[in-house]
Amino acid sequence: MRITNKEEILNLLEQEDNITNPLGFRHNNGLLKKEMNKKINEIAGFCEQILKVVRKFDREKEIVFLECSCGKSYLSFVLSYILESEFSTTPFFFGIDTNKELIQRCEDTRSVLGYENMVFKHGRTIDSSFDRKVDVVIALHACNTATDEAIAKGIKMGAKNIMVVPCCQGQLRSQIKSHHPLTSVTQFGLLRYKFADILTDALRSQFLSGSGYYVELLEIVSPKLTPKNILISARKQKGKNKRNLERYNQLNNMFNTNLSLQEFFCQ
Ligand SMILES: C[S@@+](CC[C@H](N)C(=O)[O-])C[C@H]1O[C@@H](n2cnc3c(N)ncnc32)[C@H](O)[C@@H]1O
Repeated sequence: MRITNKEEILNLLEQEDNITNPLGFRHNNGLLKKEMNKKINEIAGFCEQILKVVRKFDREKEIVFLECSCGKSYLSFVLSYILESEFSTTPFFFGIDTNKELIQRCEDTRSVLGYENMVFKHGRTIDSSFDRKVDVVIALHACNTATDEAIAKGIKMGAKNIMVVPCCQGQLRSQIKSHHPLTSVTQFGLLRYKFADILTDALRSQFLSGSGYYVELLEIVSPKLTPKNILISARKQKGKNKRNLERYNQLNNMFNTNLSLQEFFCQ
């Protein structure tokens, strides 16, 4: 178990071209592409937090991950590589995305790497189904309400851990223009934009807490690299938490908001 932190993961990716080449992170001359720097850092920061979580899991048992809105599945490929090479465990990965071409690309990369422990599916996260019990749901920059789908799916499946780094969060922006106690903040477009992000993450976190998860919010990379750097990390505890669900309802009522996450439980 040599790898412990983000810097070590970055060093590993710097050195190991057998994972970075198939992922297209390098030029033909072997140097890492500058334009991939941000994504590589996000993946390393996210992997650091995932490794902290799975370190506590039983090593004898297979860990099943679901990467929602996986795109090219960089996160899953890097994570699979680290877990196999550094932790001597073979995890299993599902990846899902609404973009058919990206799913085909994931399949091509999987075939080049010879990874047999991955299945990619085309479709919406919320509509998906899987033939193995998912332990950990992960999502990096699932656009807008696709993050809510990842959280809802994780809760519905009873995943042990749900770890999402949200992307753009447009849904609440238009809902918080007026009729709440902080209109003197949200009347300014720029502040409304930033406040919508904070409120969305707060509502998601309270909803997860109310659904029986212990929730922490962490930064996976410096905000100088990207403002979309907040990880909502949730760990399943026993049963629902009425008090936290009440906190969610209070916050929701205060701003009269309508978050997708909750809607997925009304269907
Ligand atoms: C910003 S990209 C992030 C891709 C990848 N996670 C990454 O970090 O490179 C967002 C992805 O979400 C996918 N997506 C959007 N809505 C979705 C949904 N409801 N279910 C699954 N995937 C979705 C898009 O096709 C796109 O690939």
